[in-house]
Amino acid sequence: MKLTDMFAQRAGRMKASEIRELLKLLDRPGVISFAGGIPDPELFPAEAFREASARALGEGQYEKNLQYSASEGHAGLREWIAEHMRGLAVPATADDILITSGSQQALDYLGKLMLDAGDGALVGWPTYLGALGAFNAYEPEFQRLDVLRNTAPEQTGATKFAYVTPDFANPTGVTMTRAERLALLEQAEALGAAVIEDAAYQALRYAGEDVAPILALEAARNGGLEGCRTIYCGSFSKTLSPGLRVGWVCASRGVIDKLVLLKQAGDLHSATLNQALVADVAEREFATHVPKLRAAYGKRLAAMLTALERHMPEGVSWTKPEGGMFVWVTLPERANGAALLERALAEHNIAFVPGAAFFADGSGQNTIRLNFSMPSEIQIEEGISRLGKLLASL
Ligand SMILES: Cc1ncc(COP(=O)(O)O)c(C=O)c1O
Repeated sequence: MKLTDMFAQRAGRMKASEIRELLKLLDRPGVISFAGGIPDPELFPAEAFREASARALGEGQYEKNLQYSASEGHAGLREWIAEHMRGLAVPATADDILITSGSQQALDYLGKLMLDAGDGALVGWPTYLGALGAFNAYEPEFQRLDVLRNTAPEQTGATKFAYVTPDFANPTGVTMTRAERLALLEQAEALGAAVIEDAAYQALRYAGEDVAPILALEAARNGGLEGCRTIYCGSFSKTLSPGLRVGWVCASRGVIDKLVLLKQAGDLHSATLNQALVADVAEREFATHVPKLRAAYGKRLAAMLTALERHMPEGVSWTKPEGGMFVWVTLPERANGAALLERALAEHNIAFVPGAAFFADGSGQNTIRLNFSMPSEIQIEEGISRLGKLLASL
C-alpha cells in the first residue's frame, strides 16, 4: 500500500506547473524578470506597519491582538471595508463583509461552497492561474467565458458561476467596460449562475476612468445587496501587503453567513494581529498610499508600452492596460511562449511567463505575460529591447 495511491480523486487534478522549474532560474544575477506577479517591496508602507505593530502589541492591545477572534473578522476593519465599498457605489455595511486570508482563500471557499463535481465554472480564456487552481480541487468543468473577445458563453447546463477579474485582469491587463459588465450580469441571470468578481487590482488604476464594480451595478438595479448574484472578492495584497494575507468578500447576507461557516471550519479566522495591522494602516494611510503606488506603477506601465511600441517586430500585438501589473502579448501563430522563455533566459537573460498556463485547456501557446510592477523603467526598456531582438531573429 502506497500512501500516494490513497489520495482522493480530486488530488489527481492538482498538478505543479512545468514552468515553475524554469522560473527558479530567475534568481540568477543579471536576469531582467517580467515573470513576477508581485508588488514591489520598495513600495510597501513599511514605516506605517512598524508603527502599527508597536501599537498593536502595546499594553492594553496585545491581549486581544494575540488572541483568537471572530470568524467574520476584525470589526473595525469590516467597518473600514464597508465604507471603502460604499465609495465604490456598493451599498455595504460591515455585516456584508467577511475577512479572508487573502482573496485566494475566498476563491477556494467559493469553489467549496458552490461546486459539485462536474458543475460548470465559466472562466476567462485566459484567466488567473490561482483561480483555476482553487476551483480545480472541486472538480468543475471549466467553460469558456471569452471576456477578452467579449463573446457570450454558450452553455445551458448546471453552470454555477462566472469568474471574472473585471479590473486590469491577471494575466491580460484588460478591464471590462460598463456595457460588458452589464452584459455579463444578463448572461449570468439567463444561466441562473452567480458572478464571482475578483477585484484584486481594482485600486491600481493609472489612466482612464474608474468603472463601477459589477456588484455596484447589480445592487443599483436591485436596490441593495440582497438578491444580488455577484460575489465581490477584495484584497489588501496589491495595495498594502500581500504577506499579511488579508482580503475580503462582500456579498448578500445569505452568502456571507455560509462563508462564515466555511471560514470557521477552515482556519477559524484570519490572523488577528494581521487584521489589526491592516485596519490601522488602512485607516491612516490607504488614501495617501494608493496614489503613490499609482504614480510609481503608472510610470512603469508607460515605460513598458513605449518600449513595446519601439522594439516589437511586425506580427506581435499586446494589450494596453490602464492599471494593474501585467501586459499580455500575442506572438505570431506559430510561436511558442514556453520555447521562447527557454531561449530568452539562456541567451538574453530575460524572463516572462508563457501564456498557456493561464488557459484551462493549455491553449494560447503563442502568448506571454509581462509583469511591470517589479522591474525598473530602465530594466523595462532594456529587457523589452532584448525581447524584441530575440523575436525579430526567429
Ligand atoms: C487576479 C488575482 N486574484 C487573486 C489573487 C490572490 O491575491 P491574494 O490572495 O493575495 O489576495 C491574485 C494574486 O496574484 C490575483 O492576481
